[in-house]
Amino acid sequence: AALLAPLTGVGEAELAARLECPPDETLGDLSLPCFALAKTLRRAPAAIASELAAQVNGQEEAPAAEAAGGEADPAPPIRWRAEAAGGFLNLRAAGRGWIEALLRQAESPALGRLEDGAGKRVVIDYSSPNIAKPMSVGHLRSTVIGRALANLHRTAGWDVQTVNHLGDWGTQFGKLIAATKRWGSREAIEADPIGESLRLYVRFHEEAERDPALVDEGRAWFLRLEQGDAEARELWAFFIRESLKEFQRIYGRLGVEFDHLLGESFYNDKMEAAAQRLREAGLLEESDGALVVRLDEQGMPPCLVFKSDGSTIYGTRDLATALYRREAMGGDKLLYVVGAEQTLHFRQVFAVLEKLDPTWEQVEKVHVPFGLMRMEGRKMSTRRGKVVFLDEVLDEAVRRALAVIEAKTPDLPDKEAVAEAVGIGAIVFGDLRSRRMLEIDFSLEEMVSLDGETGPYVQYTYARACSLLRRAAEAGAGAVPAGADGVPAGADGVPAGADGVPAGADAAAAGSGAGTAAPGAEAGAGTGSGAEPGDASGLEALGSPAARACLLKLDAYGEAIRGALREHEPSVLARYLLELAKAFNRFYNSGRILGADGGGETAAKLRLTAACAAVLSHGLGLLGLSAPSRI
Ligand code: ARG
Repeated sequence: AALLAPLTGVGEAELAARLECPPDETLGDLSLPCFALAKTLRRAPAAIASELAAQVNGQEEAPAAEAAGGEADPAPPIRWRAEAAGGFLNLRAAGRGWIEALLRQAESPALGRLEDGAGKRVVIDYSSPNIAKPMSVGHLRSTVIGRALANLHRTAGWDVQTVNHLGDWGTQFGKLIAATKRWGSREAIEADPIGESLRLYVRFHEEAERDPALVDEGRAWFLRLEQGDAEARELWAFFIRESLKEFQRIYGRLGVEFDHLLGESFYNDKMEAAAQRLREAGLLEESDGALVVRLDEQGMPPCLVFKSDGSTIYGTRDLATALYRREAMGGDKLLYVVGAEQTLHFRQVFAVLEKLDPTWEQVEKVHVPFGLMRMEGRKMSTRRGKVVFLDEVLDEAVRRALAVIEAKTPDLPDKEAVAEAVGIGAIVFGDLRSRRMLEIDFSLEEMVSLDGETGPYVQYTYARACSLLRRAAEAGAGAVPAGADGVPAGADGVPAGADGVPAGADAAAAGSGAGTAAPGAEAGAGTGSGAEPGDASGLEALGSPAARACLLKLDAYGEAIRGALREHEPSVLARYLLELAKAFNRFYNSGRILGADGGGETAAKLRLTAACAAVLSHGLGLLGLSAPSRI
């Protein structure tokens, strides 16, 4: 993109997004379709392609870098050979520098780090389940997508503040208190907070049909709660504590954390001020006794702020919330990862904010919606009514992952821990691999499989790379030339930090440090396999189509992160990881790696293996999957 930007007049970022991998690698490594340029350059796409090709090929050859080996060498720039084919400009990396350059990117401690968000803060609202109700599959999707988006922003340099906007307020708490006082007990709630709350709700509604006094009782309790009555408050806080314990267990298994737990109740004392601002701006209008903000010009129904009885609603709360996130939390960008059924709600809230104060137009406010996910599996959807209990889904996934592992590697140490990582990884990846608005019919059977487009497939590919690196290290200096440039020298040849707990973006990044090789051995020198003069690195062994494809995939990592961020679409990264895993497996199967030629070739191939492993584990970490080094 940097090369083509001055030649086309199109920005680098835009070009990077337009560059494609040709369907057939004999055509080249990258390809720029020139059709979109035809308009601005006022020439036929084919003519543009051949002019660009001539310009690229005519560029001065970059001065060759010093002989390979020195750590401090700047990586030589990549040279490109271009060829026009119809309206496409096909490019192939040429010369000696590019392999080194791409490997160094993957070996850098800055792997996956971008500066795009530097100096900016994003507030991300995700998960946000409701107290005393089960966390639904929708909340699971929000949790998984939101966490991935948080990691992606973080690695792109944003200051990220994550918020769990718990549904911890509303008239239902009055009912719950009334029901608990009549038929419930703390012990029963402690034993099964959400199940027991549900039972109490159901009973409340059943009995209220026969006994209308119960409805008044519920109302009275909510009023007491609103007025700060000690007993009501204490019970309410108890419900929250108990529900949170259940949610926390799921968050723990998913490896999800939040910077802020600010439920709806947090805004109780902030709504009047928000409403006052609307009033002062002259935006509140009466409608059937209620107060609304009209949004006719925006083509939307009015946004209800006060009901006719003077009470506030969900929308009022989100107005106060948005003001708080921008003004008190300093958010430059606000993200809401909430199901598609709330689309109108967020459009209304954003429109009201912009009416209130036009500077809100400059704040990026994004509702990140997602489609429905259906979970197959009889047991999970039938127990306790129609409600899916996520714990059971996770347990089932882990059970199935364990069965897959038992069948494949019965002697694996830590089988349970690996099954947990793989089972949870299957769910997380299964959620993220398709574009989020698509409805998902989730099949656990398919998702825990080690092949196919699954999380376990990517995890398994990573473990495979680790195993190769371990074997190389065990084989010792015989097979792996000591000090050969770029042979990863982690304790056991495995990128550090790869194992165990779900890697946050930061933790995963720590895995990318390639070994600092001891200076000395002239690895690969004189292996006589067509190295260019002075090239002792053996990197020419990476000129095969399979290796080239891997290298170019590695290079596309930054663009995958950018693409995922541009569209708030973690699936872009998930698809990338599947492609990288496929490319690596093809390379892995394309010829001997250990003992390939006793020297430079093995070293170079191991270096590529380590680079792929680093990107796989970093990318899995961004999506929220852990990457066990053995499966
Ligand atoms: N608790 C809500 C629900 O379950 C989601 C809240 C989303 N966040 C927000 N700021 N409205 O539907």
